Amino acid sequence: AAVAPLYRNHYHAVPPIGWMNDPNGFIQYQGAYHLFYQFHPYDAKWGPMHWGHMKSTDLTHWEDLPVALAPDQAYDRFGCFSGSAIEKDGKLYLLYTGVTEADEAGIHYQVQCLAVSEDGVHFEKVQHNPVIPAAALPEGASPIDFRDPKLFEHDGMFYAVIASKTEEGTGQVLLYESADLLDWRFSSVFLKGTKEQGIMWECPDFFTLDGKDCLIFSPMQWPEEGNDYQNLNASLLAIGKVDWATNQFHPESFQELDHGLDYYAPQSLEDDLGRRICIAWMQNWGRNFPTDELGHGWTGSMTIPRQLKLEDGKLKQYPIAASLTEGESPETIGAFYLEDGVAVLPGIEGERGLLQLKIDVSAVERMEIRLRENEQESTLVFYDRMMNELGIDRSKSGIMINGEEATPLSCRKVALPTMVQWLLLDIFLDSSSIEVFEGNGDAVLSTNVYPTEPASGISFRCSGKAVIEQAAFMPIA
Ligand code: FRU
Repeated sequence: AAVAPLYRNHYHAVPPIGWMNDPNGFIQYQGAYHLFYQFHPYDAKWGPMHWGHMKSTDLTHWEDLPVALAPDQAYDRFGCFSGSAIEKDGKLYLLYTGVTEADEAGIHYQVQCLAVSEDGVHFEKVQHNPVIPAAALPEGASPIDFRDPKLFEHDGMFYAVIASKTEEGTGQVLLYESADLLDWRFSSVFLKGTKEQGIMWECPDFFTLDGKDCLIFSPMQWPEEGNDYQNLNASLLAIGKVDWATNQFHPESFQELDHGLDYYAPQSLEDDLGRRICIAWMQNWGRNFPTDELGHGWTGSMTIPRQLKLEDGKLKQYPIAASLTEGESPETIGAFYLEDGVAVLPGIEGERGLLQLKIDVSAVERMEIRLRENEQESTLVFYDRMMNELGIDRSKSGIMINGEEATPLSCRKVALPTMVQWLLLDIFLDSSSIEVFEGNGDAVLSTNVYPTEPASGISFRCSGKAVIEQAAFMPIA
């Protein structure tokens, strides 16, 4: 009989128990990387939000710490929603969204609250809370959609970008400023979205990278209107310039951060090596959550942290995973010629690990790499030469995430920016996730899969001619 497969990821940040969504308060503090997250400790479903907490020295091995914030005040009783962290005078501050108890009309307001810690483990909410009440909203901005403050410093001041919704039902980012983190004032509408860019923007993040100003946000209902949460694998990066006279962000371009099916609410930090590192919730709203349905008692995983760079205005992303594969030497096979056929390569298989590929695709029509394969199931990573597209298809990967008949929803793809001879791929497989990194940093596709039987097969298919120059699989425990 088959062994029941376990879906809990091994080398990604996962909750010890219960539910996880957005990364929060991602920061390097006193030498360690701290990751907080939206956490419901009492159930594998979303519920009254707490802030879970873990730390790491290498961004891959995480140590669980006590819950940092619990919804225990009138101003956050409905939940301690997403937010961020900053260090000031050696102390660690968290700015988060409190969702208030319902008023007489049954309305929950969203307000911004501060908590502080001297040891990076125990947090106290400040007396002044909420430090940004609903009264501090500009005209027309919704007091029930005002959340996810991300802190940064500029020119000796503290700022927070905060997600908001306009009266017309578009997303926007508001900017607030403070000298001391306690007293805040509204500064500007930092960037206002269009109808095509969703009805609300969640989880903004602002930073400067390689000489450009960058604004990340996760739009709801983008790009298709009227279809709840279709968008939610789309988090956008706007690259542009802030005019610090008016405090407004002027976008020059928008690009998607991930082209897979499960990526949302990314948050970034800059570390002491000067790296801009981004981590995201590797799941989505509006989908079913198999580990909860199966009664496994937990739900959620973060992505592998990635380093972001800009080259000629284009986003590049590289996995931070060196400490996972250190000391391992990949088993590399010699050049393997494949013509209109199927190949299984010796030593190339596994459920959890890093698959590195270098394939000459210049004479390929379509190349398919089947992952997590068993007798009935597999997930496809494909490359279409004519379209120059890299994609992932999980319609036969196991438990359906979106419903049986919704196959188009189970597949996503992206056109690569340049025609390549060599298709370079670093594919990270964990118990229920596949992250495909295009080797030049040009695209990442992150997707959850839930095979119903053990599934460690990897096979290659092609129409046309492919030369698999290198194929290596490094197991990760
Ligand atoms: C994004 C989000 C945030 C909110 C949090 C609640 O996934 O909806 O806007 O703060 O999740 O858990």
